[in-house]
Amino acid sequence: MSKSENIVWHDSKVTKEHRQNLNNHKSAVIWFTGLSGSGKSTVSVELEKELHNLGVRTYRLDGDNVRHGLNKNLGFSPEDRTENIRRIGEVSKLMVDAGLFTLTAFISPYREDRDNVRELLDEGEFIEVYVKASVETCESRDPKGLYKKARAGEIKGFTGIDAPYEEPKNPEVTVNTDKLSIEESVQTIIEYLKEKGYLE
Ligand code: PPS
Repeated sequence: MSKSENIVWHDSKVTKEHRQNLNNHKSAVIWFTGLSGSGKSTVSVELEKELHNLGVRTYRLDGDNVRHGLNKNLGFSPEDRTENIRRIGEVSKLMVDAGLFTLTAFISPYREDRDNVRELLDEGEFIEVYVKASVETCESRDPKGLYKKARAGEIKGFTGIDAPYEEPKNPEVTVNTDKLSIEESVQTIIEYLKEKGYLE
């Protein structure tokens, strides 16, 4: 049950549609999901740059960054990961309401948590991008040395090693970074956005 009682919603006179009209584009969440080291942050950073150059208003939320601030009280237990994604979902909703293309880069290992974010948003506002790479590939990249630590037992509950990752069943876009370059992954997403009318 909610702890907040006796609260009343206040409508604004400026709506999401007004802001989208002013921006001259729609707003949506581009939700990157995938293993640590799969390329979520890298691809989302490059995609944001590309969108910005196309005149699209964006904001990017990234796991490591958000865990320094808003979610610094959360760890990596299943409950904390669920709460992490719930909060990011709510923040994303606010950003979409603000008229922005919001790019999120979180492992978000549980399908139900991602589906709950999809439910929060209106139709077409949640674009799930599965950044697909095998554990072997991610482990060979190991940009932060975390797989090595997880194998050595220094990190418990590491996604892909001793904590689960549930693949999306019907993502809007899959980019297989085992095979595609960063640029090819970015272009795959841009093409989807154009094909579906998010971009001209
Ligand atoms: S989650 O599962 O969505 O809540 O995770 P997220 O907020 O994206 O944070 C993932 C980054 O935290 C680091 N890290 C871990 N990842 C997975 N499992 C464990 N136990 C863990 N501990 C720390 C890691 O740097 C992840 O960053 P990425 O960018 O995914 O490599």
